[in-house]
Amino acid sequence: MEVLIACRNLSKDYESGAGVVRALREIDLEIEQGEFVAIVGTSGSGKSTLMNILGCLDRPTRGAYELAGFDIGGRSSDARAILRNRLIGFIFQGFNLLPRTTALENVELPLVYRGAGARERRTRALEALAAVGLSDRVHHTPNQLSGGQQQRVAIARALVTGPPMLLADEPTGNLDTRTSLEVLALLQRLNRDRGITIVLVTHEHDIAACASRVVTFRDGRIVSDVREPSVDAAAELEKLPPPDAALADDAGALDPAAAERLRLGGPVPRGLYAMTALGGVIGLLLGVAYCRAILEVTSTAIPVAFGFVLESILAVRYARRHLGRPLTSDQRVRVSLAYTLGTALVLAPPTALGWMPWSKALLDRLDDLEGGRLALALAGGLVGLAAVALARYLVLALLAPLVAPAPPTKKKAA
Ligand SMILES: Nc1ncnc2c1ncn2[C@@H]1O[C@H](COP(=O)(O)OP(=O)(O)O)[C@@H](O)[C@H]1O
Ligand SMILES: [Mg+2]
Repeated sequence: MEVLIACRNLSKDYESGAGVVRALREIDLEIEQGEFVAIVGTSGSGKSTLMNILGCLDRPTRGAYELAGFDIGGRSSDARAILRNRLIGFIFQGFNLLPRTTALENVELPLVYRGAGARERRTRALEALAAVGLSDRVHHTPNQLSGGQQQRVAIARALVTGPPMLLADEPTGNLDTRTSLEVLALLQRLNRDRGITIVLVTHEHDIAACASRVVTFRDGRIVSDVREPSVDAAAELEKLPPPDAALADDAGALDPAAAERLRLGGPVPRGLYAMTALGGVIGLLLGVAYCRAILEVTSTAIPVAFGFVLESILAVRYARRHLGRPLTSDQRVRVSLAYTLGTALVLAPPTALGWMPWSKALLDRLDDLEGGRLALALAGGLVGLAAVALARYLVLALLAPLVAPAPPTKKKAA
């Protein structure tokens, strides 16, 4: 294997008010093409200083740095910039994407600096976005993407020039465990399939374990350098419990649009309304039977209450079976409003035609009312409907945790 990076006796001093900070002290380090190296160490141990030098962003105070056979230490900053542009892709903790700029344009940017034509830029940027699995997000701006997706855009941007090496300083520092592993799995794939050399700074051991070589820094010195079999990030990802849809909308684990869809809960299945109506009718009949046989009274309130409870029980169970999760609060509002309005509309014609048991009393009453009183009575009816809808919502919410059967094992993707 060819040596890509060779540091000999490399030191970096920073002058500061309080004196000289010796950020790197006589580092000797060789990295071969195709290696996946993790640089670990406590904060202030010199990791970022080393990365800046490896990335030709900064020069060592003493010692030599050779990148792909070029002596970097002795070159002008222009020459370093050219080598950097040809050989290195950078990935940062904070993603460093341009805001209000689409993923595609962000990824095209390094090609703009190279003077590539518009068509070539577009083709290569789309290829790079496909390589990180973001073909369906190319026109999204960073604020429309989750943290993990933003970091994948940044990786696509680092890849788009086809560099032999990626340098990543704490690339998963802003990401949760699952998303970190996803990014690591992607980097491992790029390392394995394309032979891209990866040098990655991290302070997390789980992340470092995904590298095949771990170099540990302390106080500007290398204190250990071990090669060991790496953990397969994709396999680790499989072992994690599936993402919990109920929790997924925090921590930016989903993109905002998906989190919003999850909160709203999607359309309510039609069958749920049929089930609710069935529950209502059975409940009313049971309530009437109960009043007659057990209480020996005539009551409207008791059958209505029976209807309410039974329709909610059936609705809640139906939702669990068919959605695989309880109704969201938003869905309960929609069900209550639509069902209440729906029943009112269904019952209005037979009531007006005098077919319902309450028709006569109600119609006589309305006949007696004139002008303003009639308008007030109708307004009161609307308020009554709203109250019924609210009551339905509350009963649905109350019964949801009590009567829902265990969800089916089939997992619905969020
Ligand atoms: N530009 C700078 N000026 C002065 N001191 C610096 C500068 N950059 C880093 N240092 C110091 O160098 C040491 C190593 O820093 P750094 O490489 O950023 O560590 P790490 O990335 O491992 O946390 C620290 O003591 C830090 O305070
Ligand atoms: Mg650092």
